[in-house]
Amino acid sequence: MTDLNLTELTPFIGAEVHDVNLGAPMSDETFTAVKRAVAERSVLLFRDQDLTPQSHIDFSSRFGALEKHVLQDFCLDGHPEIFVVSNIMENGKHIGAFGGSKEYHSDLAYISEPSKGSVFRCLECPDGEGETEFVSLFAAHDALPAEKRAWLAEQSAVYDYVWDYSRRQTQRPPLSDEQIHNTPPVTHPCVRSHPETGRKTLFLSPIWIRNFEGMSEEDSAPILKELTDFATGPDFSYRHSWRAGDVLIWDNRSTLHKACPFDEENSRRLMHRTTITGEQTVR
Ligand SMILES: [Fe+2]
Repeated sequence: MTDLNLTELTPFIGAEVHDVNLGAPMSDETFTAVKRAVAERSVLLFRDQDLTPQSHIDFSSRFGALEKHVLQDFCLDGHPEIFVVSNIMENGKHIGAFGGSKEYHSDLAYISEPSKGSVFRCLECPDGEGETEFVSLFAAHDALPAEKRAWLAEQSAVYDYVWDYSRRQTQRPPLSDEQIHNTPPVTHPCVRSHPETGRKTLFLSPIWIRNFEGMSEEDSAPILKELTDFATGPDFSYRHSWRAGDVLIWDNRSTLHKACPFDEENSRRLMHRTTITGEQTVR
């Protein structure tokens, strides 16, 4: 079995992978080792990568089929698999998703088969800001008080993208009837088994959760806040400072992430994301 040259980023989440060029052909053995490292470390960093949109798509596709985002306006021309995250404007229009994702979430947790993971590529980022912060939901799960962990293991949460969009995305245009139709509320267990390792992880992506199944929104809100505050504390987090050329793969099944603020008026941040389709969530 191929061993990767890894440096852990924290004891509980993340590793930097050395001596791997994601833009070059990769053997099945190396890819299997990368995939295993993603499942075990949840976040993998590759520095100084020289990818094109197509090589980004080609590498990402080895993990599975790629999503085409609900917000097609923010996908790269000619490459609908690449979702552009940017504050940059061209010809009076935003070229990518902007002003969002500053709250912890797991990408596409609001669909019935949430994304396995994302491959995020930094093309431009201002120095010392615009970081991405991750938390390990494995670590948060393991650190929960036993009673709460047992309770959560029996719970499910209702995710409602349209409800959240209407309360939060005030800068973006309203969703079309088709977008609304394509994103009905879905339910996921609050603790799931990682499909590749079997390890139990918390699975809560707070921004889209409207309520716990069988519980009112009113009763759910304080419990969700308490859990979110616990899981997103400094004990389980890693903050990544971006350099152009960084590629980060994260496992959406065992992490949450959020973008940190930056001077959106005066600096430029440009990132490309591919999102790997997921599977049913299993308790
Ligand atoms: Fe995200």
